[in-house]
Amino acid sequence: MIKPEAAAAGHAGKILDMITGNGFRVVAFKYTRLSAEEAGTFYAVHKERPFYGELVEYMASGPIFAAILEKANAVEDFRKLIGATDPAQAAEGTIRKRFAESKAKNAVHGSDSDENAAIEGAFFFTGREQY
Ligand code: RTP
Ligand code: MG
Repeated sequence: MIKPEAAAAGHAGKILDMITGNGFRVVAFKYTRLSAEEAGTFYAVHKERPFYGELVEYMASGPIFAAILEKANAVEDFRKLIGATDPAQAAEGTIRKRFAESKAKNAVHGSDSDENAAIEGAFFFTGREQY
């Protein structure tokens, strides 16, 4: 996902360019918006964390770009490309170093496993939206 603040700031084109330039193939892509309930479901693993309420409110605060990306070793390589959760700790050349505003508003989301990538992809896209 390209998160609400990065989408609103007009960074989606440059972020997508970094993604495809690093060898990821776009399988699906759309501009959409999560309801608070959907954002809560999406980040349910963080339900007990102190930042959960803020996270849900933020992720539902405006439209996002959702994508399914394909590459060998995609989960690990995408996390390398996006950089650390906190942009202050993100390496030079990463998407978060370049575009994130803060640890909370950090420009992009990446799936943390192949299993969750499949679940999250199916959350946003039907079969005929994936190529
Ligand atoms: P993501 O799931 O969005 O790709 O991010 P991540 O794996 O790098 O980080 P994660 O620990 O899964 O946290 C999910 C998102 O919650 C927000 N967050 N805020 N205020 C805080 O201390 C804090 N910590 C995390 C961020 O938006 C983070 O990406
Ligand atoms: Mg995560």
